[in-house]
Amino acid sequence: MIKRRLNGVFHFPASAMAKQPSTIYVCQNCGSQSRKWLGQCPDCQQWNTLVEERFRATAQPAGQTKFTAHYRQSSPIAYDSIESQDDARTESGIDELDRVLGGGIVAGSLVLIGGSPGIGKSTIVMQMADRLGKNGTKVLYVSGEESERQIKMRGERLGVAAENLFLLPETNLQAILAETEKLKPDFLIVDSIQTVFSDQIESAPGSVSQVREVAAQFMHFAKQTATPVFLTGHVTKEGSIAGPKTLEHIVDTVLYFEGDRHHNHRIIRATKNRFGAANEIGIFEMTNSGLVPVGNPSELFLQERPENATGSVVTVCMEGTRPMLVEIQALVSGTKYGSGRRMTQGFDQNRTSLLIAVAEKQLGFQLAGDDVFVNVAGGMEIDEPAADLGVIAAIASSFRNLQVPPETAVFGEVGLTGEVRGVLQAQARAREAQTLGFKKLILPESNKKGLEKLLGIRVIGVKNLEQAMDALF
Ligand code: TYD
Ligand code: MG
Repeated sequence: MIKRRLNGVFHFPASAMAKQPSTIYVCQNCGSQSRKWLGQCPDCQQWNTLVEERFRATAQPAGQTKFTAHYRQSSPIAYDSIESQDDARTESGIDELDRVLGGGIVAGSLVLIGGSPGIGKSTIVMQMADRLGKNGTKVLYVSGEESERQIKMRGERLGVAAENLFLLPETNLQAILAETEKLKPDFLIVDSIQTVFSDQIESAPGSVSQVREVAAQFMHFAKQTATPVFLTGHVTKEGSIAGPKTLEHIVDTVLYFEGDRHHNHRIIRATKNRFGAANEIGIFEMTNSGLVPVGNPSELFLQERPENATGSVVTVCMEGTRPMLVEIQALVSGTKYGSGRRMTQGFDQNRTSLLIAVAEKQLGFQLAGDDVFVNVAGGMEIDEPAADLGVIAAIASSFRNLQVPPETAVFGEVGLTGEVRGVLQAQARAREAQTLGFKKLILPESNKKGLEKLLGIRVIGVKNLEQAMDALF
């Protein structure tokens, strides 16, 4: 293509500019654009994510590029002269939430709370608004989904005193920003980003272009005014927030609500956090009067543990920086079909198959003719190899019909040759088990050093599966 240099700027000759199309196709996952419809997005490789949207060339004021139109000119600042922001955190008044946020709400941060409908997003932001209001923070709650009466009804259930709390049922971004400018709140909540639309963009509310634009505008607002902004977002049926890649890049912190209808506990997990550790979790219980923080999750997950049962083993997982005891259950029973099935809940199926193969080879278990079911009790999901030894112990207990003594906890990664490998944060795990009254710990030999003396309970280090079986039964 021919380019001419004019005053330091490249200009394309008019003839080289193709006619702009009136519609374009935008991937709803990553925001990639294409002129024609494609079954698979060429950028993120997702299928059926391209959706037709109206194309709107944004007119740029003369002399401004798109970039300078949006951002004010900055100049370099000496690193030394920048004030540290360490104390600019506000406590939300809900300690489990503060822990996920990395110690409180950071001034000027943009936080996204995602989760499936009905899981409790509106409830948690309402409770937060209540606590913040009581501490003298002026909160604006923008709702695009519910009327002020509906919000009030929820508030009454939650016992919200509504000091310093203002409601705004509105979906137009420009109107929201205008009202925000007038009210000057110290804290802004937008209940759900998918309902808010900008009239500068012609695609439908909830589409990637809209969600991205709206999030970018709130980001801009948050940074300029140092006001924290919380956005809630729905999760699509594939389990992602609409346009997750683009949104997750824009916001500072992404919190996901986990949990299901069959259990009362809800987990808020930080999958991204610019101001704290990712993967930190907060645990709540949904009650008649809203979400109540669960201070000791291990107790919650173990409270219904059966006594004197085979196939039940307690292991210690790390969720962020917090150790948590969970019960793994296994059931081994003769199959009615030709070859045994392997079914898991809360633990990776492929990993379970692999561990079963290791047990067959290294411990001589004959499991080919058996169905093996593995379940993590309480609806928890475990995705760390430290639970390997727990899974094998549960399978062994059910297979041999031998009980693992109830005051025993195990953890360790298992390799393909049956070796038990060390795991991270062994001391924190061991201490959690001791705190909850466990008397015997079976863990990797390499993690054992000094723990027995430190904790005053029996600690057995094992190098391989055979030693682990001896220690268990
Ligand atoms: P909600 O916060 O409206 O969900 P979301 O905003 O994520 O869609 O939560 C609604 C669910 O929580 C609903 O099923 C009722 C239940 N709930 C309680 O059990 N107790 C309560 O005090 C409240 C307010 C809601
Ligand atoms: Mg809601």
